[in-house]
This record gives sequence, structure tokens and C-alpha cells, in this order.
Amino acid sequence: MPTILVTGGAGYIGSHTYIQMIEAGFTPIIFDNFCNSKLSVIERISAITSHPPLLYQGDIRNRAQLDEVFSQHHIDGVIHFAGLKAVGESVAKPIDYYQNNVAGTLTLIQAMQAAHVKKLIFSSSATVYGDPISVPIREDFPTLSATNPYGQSKLMIERMLQDLAHSDPEWSITLLRYFNPIGAHPSGTMGEDPQGIPNNLTPYITQVAVGRRDQVSIFGDDYPTPDGTGVRDYIHVMDLADGHVAALTHKLNEAGVHIYNLGTGQGYSVMQVIRAFEQACGHTIDYQMCARREGDIAQCWSDPKKAARELHWQASRDIKQMAIDGWRWQSNNPEGYPN
Ligand code: NAD
Ligand code: WQD
Repeated sequence: MPTILVTGGAGYIGSHTYIQMIEAGFTPIIFDNFCNSKLSVIERISAITSHPPLLYQGDIRNRAQLDEVFSQHHIDGVIHFAGLKAVGESVAKPIDYYQNNVAGTLTLIQAMQAAHVKKLIFSSSATVYGDPISVPIREDFPTLSATNPYGQSKLMIERMLQDLAHSDPEWSITLLRYFNPIGAHPSGTMGEDPQGIPNNLTPYITQVAVGRRDQVSIFGDDYPTPDGTGVRDYIHVMDLADGHVAALTHKLNEAGVHIYNLGTGQGYSVMQVIRAFEQACGHTIDYQMCARREGDIAQCWSDPKKAARELHWQASRDIKQMAIDGWRWQSNNPEGYPN
């Protein structure tokens, strides 16, 4: 089975994908600089898979570190998760985002070219659609309206990779546009562990539910949605992980550029998500209505039919399961991963 380099493999989505890749028989190698993850995730991975993962502690901007991995292993392809992802921080520190995400990807591509590895799966985001013209969002919708440096960095990388595939038809490039990943591994030993105040909704909810924070701030209740709060396409991180295995299985050996939405195709409002987590944890979760957050859109959900057709993949875990698994992780690990 193919050996796959997984940049950012210690992170939230990468670590869950690692587990599903092992299940499916692939040989993943983690490459991560741990700028947004903790070394203890490696022990959790080892406990689930019964083997310590192949691990390189390195930075995708460091060519020598990448060259070393490519020289030590016969690598068939790369899944590229490594990057910075906080939208607000990207507005405050745009150069860090372009440096890490865009320049880092360029260095990775150059190292791949030097090693004659021309198969790549890239973590893109629904953010590339900006404020969509309509919902559900198809892959052929325009991608010109990203409103923050994080989104711009994803768009730039998508464009660079498309130009690369155009210039050299040997490349196989799969762009996976994730919607809103939430939930955790069913073991309750792995999950999302944001550093500091969470930017995203569900870690905030679970931190309130477990007593780490007082109340959830709901950013706007005057959107043109059924209950006035923002609507998103939440997808279980295990379904997302399975989507990567499907992309590896069906697209890695097919040259060209392949683009897929990874979402459920169904939208839930902030209020509905809070209610789902209340059910999961068995008590009420305190919240307050606040002003809209700058840059937010009213609603966003995917049309996931292309992935179903071509990757033979579709999400199977519902919002109830996402809340149950997300809560199991948070309640077993109130402070996240140990250092
Ligand atoms: P994460 O921060 O948990 O994981 C990213 C990992 O990459 C971390 O372990 C971090 O230490 C590592 N990393 C960052 N910069 C690096 C560098 N220069 N060299 C080596 N390692 C580096 O984030 P995640 O939620 O798992 O997201 C993974 C990818 O998916 C990111 O590219 C993100 O932009 C994208 N994405 C995430 C979401 C989401 O909501 N979580 C949605 C759409 C797309
Ligand atoms: C979801 C909903 C908020 C926090 C972001 C990135 C996107 C992708 C996923 C990486 C919205 C509301 C949130 C809170 C709230 N990441 N909310 N109170 O903004 O859809 O997407 O993460 O690629 O690029 O933009 O996700 O979880 O921040 O917000 O009311 O404390 O919850 O307004 O309606 P978002 P989110």
C-alpha cells in the first residue's frame, strides 16, 4: 500500500485522518512542527493504532528537513494539512499567513519535485467561496470573493497548484474544500484542542459545557435564516478523514486537478448546534446574543454530490453523533491534550 507523507499530521484533522489511513492499510508519515498541536497527540495515536507513528518534527518552510524525509522513504504522495487557520489572526498577521501557508506550500512542492513525487491532496476550505451566490455550493461556483488573508492564502495555493498541474501533466492534485469540521474520535481520546480562546463555535460550546468558560456568544440573531442565527454545513471529523482515504483511493493515481466539496449537504444554525450539544451533555448551555462578527456570512452549505459520484464517499454521521463525540472528547479531557 502507498506511503503517504502527512504534513500537519499532528493537528486536528490530520491526526484523525492518520487513524483512518492506518485502518485502510496506508503507510502514513507525520511531518509537523507542533506550532498548533501537542506532542501528546502522538501517544494517543499510538494507543489507538497499537503502533507509534512514523514522525518527523519539522517545518514545511525548511527545505532541508523535507529533503531528508523524501530521501529516507519511498513516498508515493503527500496529504498537505500543515498551515495556519485562524481567520481573525490572519487579518492581524497577514504576512505570517502568507509565509506559512503560501511560501510553505511552495517549498513543499519544490521538495516534492526534486524527489519526483507528483501526487498531492491539499486541505482547502469552503472559505474560498466567500459569500456564495446561492446555496448549496457546487465546486464550479466562483472563488473570487475570499475576504481575509487566510482565505486568500487558500485561494493562492489552489491557483498555484492548478498552474503547476497545467505546466506538467504528470501531477495529480486533489483540492478538498472542507466545510465546518467538528466532533472527535469515538474513543474520546482525540479531538480538537484550540490554544487560547476558541475561534470556532463548537470548541467554544464544549468549553462552556465543561465549565471552562461562562457562556457562548452568539454572533448575530438577525440573519435571513430560519431562527436568525448563522447556518453552516458541519461535518464530523471522522467523515472528513474518510473523505481523504476516498480521495487517496480514487484520485491519487489520476493525473490532473480534482476538486471536491467535503460537507454533508445540510445546514444547521448556531441555535440548533447549541441544542444538539445540550442533548449530548445532558444540561443547558448558557449563551448570550451578540452583534454579528465582522466578515461572517449568513449561510453556507455544500452540494456534496460530486464527491459521492467520483470519490464514492458521503458523510454518514449526523449532528447528534458530532455532538456526542465532541462532548465525549471534551468531558474526558477538559483541558485538552496534556503538554
Ligand atoms: P490544526 O492547526 O489543528 O493542524 C495543522 C497542523 O499543521 C498543526 O499540527 C500545526 O502544528 C501544523 N503546522 C502548521 N504550520 C506548519 C509548518 N509550517 N510546518 C509544519 N507543520 C505545521 O488545523 P486543522 O483544523 O487540523 O486544519 C488542517 C488543515 O485544514 C489546515 O490547512 C486548515 O487550513 C484546513 N482547514 C481547516 C478547517 C477547520 O475548520 N478546522 C476548515 C477548512 C480547512
Ligand atoms: C460558525 C458559526 C458564527 C463562534 C471558519 C472559517 C472557515 C473554516 C471553518 C478553515 C457562524 C457562529 C462562532 C462563536 C458564534 N476554517 N459563532 N459564536 O466562521 O463558519 O468558518 O471555520 O478553513 O474558513 O472561516 O466557523 O465555527 O467560527 O462559526 O455564534 O463564538 O457560529 O457566526 O455562524 P466559520 P465558526
